Amino acid sequence: MADAAELDLIENGTLADYAIQSQPNAFYAALRHGDPVHHDPKLDSWLITRHEDIAFVQSDPITFSVNKGYHTQQARGMQAEYQEILRTEGGGYFPDAIMSDPPYHTRIRKLMESAFTAHRVKDLEPRITAVVSELLDSVADKGTANAVKDIAVPLTIRVIVEQLGLDHGMENKISRWSVAVTAQIGRMQDREQMLENARQICDLQHYLIGKMKEREANPGEDMISDIVHAELPNPDGTTDKLTFAEAVSLIRAMLIAGNDTTATAIGNLFFLMATRPEIADKLKEVAEDDRKLSRFVEELMRIEPPVRALSRMATKEVVIGGTTVPEGAHLLLVYGSGNDDETVFPDPRSFDIERPNLGRHVAFGGGPHRCVGLALARMEVKVMAREIVRRLDGIKLAIPVEDIRYVPTVATRTIESLPITFTRRAT
Ligand code: HEM
Repeated sequence: MADAAELDLIENGTLADYAIQSQPNAFYAALRHGDPVHHDPKLDSWLITRHEDIAFVQSDPITFSVNKGYHTQQARGMQAEYQEILRTEGGGYFPDAIMSDPPYHTRIRKLMESAFTAHRVKDLEPRITAVVSELLDSVADKGTANAVKDIAVPLTIRVIVEQLGLDHGMENKISRWSVAVTAQIGRMQDREQMLENARQICDLQHYLIGKMKEREANPGEDMISDIVHAELPNPDGTTDKLTFAEAVSLIRAMLIAGNDTTATAIGNLFFLMATRPEIADKLKEVAEDDRKLSRFVEELMRIEPPVRALSRMATKEVVIGGTTVPEGAHLLLVYGSGNDDETVFPDPRSFDIERPNLGRHVAFGGGPHRCVGLALARMEVKVMAREIVRRLDGIKLAIPVEDIRYVPTVATRTIESLPITFTRRAT
């Protein structure tokens, strides 16, 4: 049951409010206790906040359409204009092929999964370790760095650039492009920002289309080559080539989906180490024990999930957790709240790698749309966590905690910039 303060928060709060976006846990708790399937009038979205209701929605991709939920969310209210800009200036409007519903999604998904098997990702560990080591060594003696801009973002971009076979030296552009793509589902852009972000996406598409043409003629050992030459299996044993539009959208998804998200996880890791000594101590204790370190990473994902909320649309009137939502309702699955649900994770704000049900967190979603890049994301965060302990000591915030800003968006909870200080660990 919600108490009086929580009822007030439910009545007057909205996830569109920056103050709630940046410090959301009290709002989430109020909703879970008092109105777990809540219509947010400002967003005109239903916020699904309890773990079991999120799981229910995720498990039924026909009643709850990703395709409709995601694509109506895109540049909401300005879709026609957004699509027109991409058509006239960006080589085409290419709807996200992976943001689709079964049975189509199932075929596309198989193709994506083959790119990210745990086995393939395991082979990347030495290379990821080398990139992480280089980044940390480049700052270790300076005693100060921006953990987001100097470490987290360059790592995730370098890794995906190498996987896709793109050019090095593009970090700033790719980072800007990632922001532009995710802003389209973040619900906080005004028209001017939408136009500027759409033009960034045009730039991105021209760059990717150029690379695709190169690999069509000269295939290499990279994911762009794999995707432009991929064949989708049909149930009758025949295969179809991906269309050009599908191929562009999948390469764009590969480039963008893992950058901000994984960089956010690493930003959160630094933030927690700087502000919660018990977490920094725990990491030191487990850093050289692979099994415990993996649990540490999972608890990090649970306690600070980078992806806050993603979309679905109800394709018919349906009851969720006792509340009826109408056909055509836009839903936000609030993963951030599901991971904080005290009925599943007791004392949810305490960091405990021994939770027996750690694997139930929803930071990577669940059901048929569960994150396809999770093995890569886990690997990048794990290697970073281990190498931080090997190199840096005494991590502290270089600015007051109240000055930390979050990217204004409903889709993720992302620290924008994180100046820290530290010393190089004596070996
Ligand atoms: C810590 C980092 C990451 C987090 C927290 C994360 C989170 C998520 C979540 C919550 C979903 C579910 C979407 C939904 O329910 O609608 C998802 C899907 C997806 N993720 Fe990730 N992700 C991360 C890293 C990555 C990486 C590294 C890649 C690839 C390079 C990636 C690619 C994708 C793709 C393609 C999907 C769509 C899957 C589908 O709809 O079938 N993600 N991710």
